[in-house]
Parts: sequence; C-alpha cells; structure tokens
Amino acid sequence: MSQNQKIVLLTGASGGLGTAIARHLSQNNYKVYGTSRHKQANGDYIPVSMDLSDEKSIDKAVKFVLSKENRIDILINNAGIGATGSIEETKIDDVKKIFEINLFGMIALTQKVLPVMRSQKSGIIINISSIAGYTGLPFRGIYSATKSAVMRISEALSSEVNQFNIRVIDVAPGDFKTNIAAGRLYTAIDENSPYYTDYKRILQMIDDEVDKGLAPDVLGKKINGILRKKHPKLRYNIGVFLQRLTPYLICILPGRFFEKLINKHYGIKYKP
Ligand SMILES: NC(=O)c1ccc[n+]([C@@H]2O[C@H](COP(=O)([O-])OP(=O)(O)OC[C@H]3O[C@@H](n4cnc5c(N)ncnc54)[C@H](OP(=O)(O)O)[C@@H]3O)[C@@H](O)[C@H]2O)c1
Repeated sequence: MSQNQKIVLLTGASGGLGTAIARHLSQNNYKVYGTSRHKQANGDYIPVSMDLSDEKSIDKAVKFVLSKENRIDILINNAGIGATGSIEETKIDDVKKIFEINLFGMIALTQKVLPVMRSQKSGIIINISSIAGYTGLPFRGIYSATKSAVMRISEALSSEVNQFNIRVIDVAPGDFKTNIAAGRLYTAIDENSPYYTDYKRILQMIDDEVDKGLAPDVLGKKINGILRKKHPKLRYNIGVFLQRLTPYLICILPGRFFEKLINKHYGIKYKP
C-alpha cells in the first residue's frame, strides 16, 4: 500500500454508478474494495462478495477487508435496487425486500464499520440516496420511501458521529444512465387494474428518463471531488438543473400545487 492511500469500502461496485465511482477513486490513488452479490473482477477494485439482505455476508465482507487492511477510511453505501408499482398493488413481501436492500442492509453495514472508524478516530461515510427521495413519486413510492429514509439516516448519523471525527455525506443523484431497470423490483399489473394505463405509461417514462440520464462518470468524478474537500457539505444533489431544483421547489411550493405539477408531468388525471 502506498503511503497515505485511503481504503474504501464501496457497495454495488458492479453496477453503473458503483463502477464509475471505483474507477475515479482508483485513478486517484484510493484502494477500493468493491462489493456485489455476483463478484466481478475489475481492475479498479478488489471484488468482495456481499448480499445486503444477509447480515452474515455483510459481516464476512467487513472482516475480509479488515483482515487485509486493518482499517476502513471511507464507506460508500451505494448498492440499491429500483422498484416500481402502485402503493395499493405492491405486495408487502416486496415492500420488505426493497427496504431490506436499500435501507436495512445499508444500516447493518454501517453499524459494522462505525466501530472501526471510531477506533481510527476518523472516517467518511457517503450514502447514495436519490433525488426521488425528496418526494413520493407515483408508482415509485416504495423506492422513494427507502431513499427518503436513507437521507434521514444520513442526517441523524452525521449528528451522532461528528464528535468522533466521522463525516457523513448524503449524495442524491438524479437520473443516470445505468442498468438499474434490469435489477428493478417490478410489480406486475393486471390489464383490469385501475392503474394499468398510468403505470404502463409512467414505466416507459421512467425508463426513458434513465436512458437519457447523465453518464455515471459524472457522479464518479463528483464523489472524488467531494472526498477531497476539507469541509464537505451534508448533502449533494447531482443531476441536471431541473432535478437539482426539485428539492427547493418542494420546500417553497404549496404541497397540492407541487402534486398537481407532478401529475401533469406524468399525465395522471388530477381532481382539484
Ligand atoms: N441510476 C440512477 O438513475 C439512480 C438515480 C438515483 C439513485 N440511484 C442509486 O444509485 C445506486 C446505484 O444504482 P445504479 O444505477 O448503479 O444501479 P445498478 O446498475 O443496478 O447497480 C446496483 C448495484 O447494487 C448491487 N446490488 C443489488 N442488490 C444487492 C444486494 N441485495 N446486495 C448487495 N448488492 C446488491 C448490484 O450488484 P449485484 O446485483 O451483483 O449484487 C450492483 O452492483 C442505487 O442505490 C440507486 O438507488 C441511481
């Protein structure tokens, strides 16, 4: 290990954003341990097998990194899955599964890394939430809820661990062109469902938005920049201008007015 080389534990390294983050960090002298369920070789990170829905595998992954490096300087909680479906028709088992991966697994991993960072008296934790976490998006409500929860965890954790010289940063991406749709938990819909037409149309819109999204390298570069800041902000929204504007609009516009804008955007009938 070269002197001052920081050890990074990055989840979801085999996916679009994770791979880009690993690339930018390895090019900038970070040593990256990258996790995924399907371990993949990649010159930018050392692959580590980990399933966020399995606490034993989380424990094993952390122990593996510690056995090699004896420290973890940076934890990037990036892994996550997308999910679509109406609130009414998404099965509770699926709701639990999405929370298991996007939230509970991320908390479990953070709990395993925090004692290490506290004993080092330093550490940085970056949680990848989503701009979709600022509001409940139609047919993505469960996903939005998990990402909203990630933001709240980032805030609370930051307050708790700041005294131990551990910085917590929430990074909320807008749309990025990755394969997230392939791993998405999709609630199937019956043609007779009252949501059928809206759901089908909006699914296509969601896919188009991801396809037209920013290149993952934009995020990788940004994360590298954030890690180099002496005083990083608590949250960063990264996306095109309108997506970065959304959190501010939510704060200043009346709730029903914003809701009307959302329904107009997605073409859902709205009764004033
Ligand atoms: N793409 C976007 O537009 C966008 C926008 C906002 C936020 N985000 C967030 O950014 C993060 C990365 O998304 P992405 O677009 O790069 O998605 P992606 O291409 O689908 O990659 C997801 C990564 O998470 C891993 N993963 C999935 N389920 C897992 C599990 N149960 N345990 C451990 N690892 C698991 C995947 O590897 P394996 O399948 O091999 O386990 C993969 O490496 C996610 O948290 C996502 O919610 C993405």
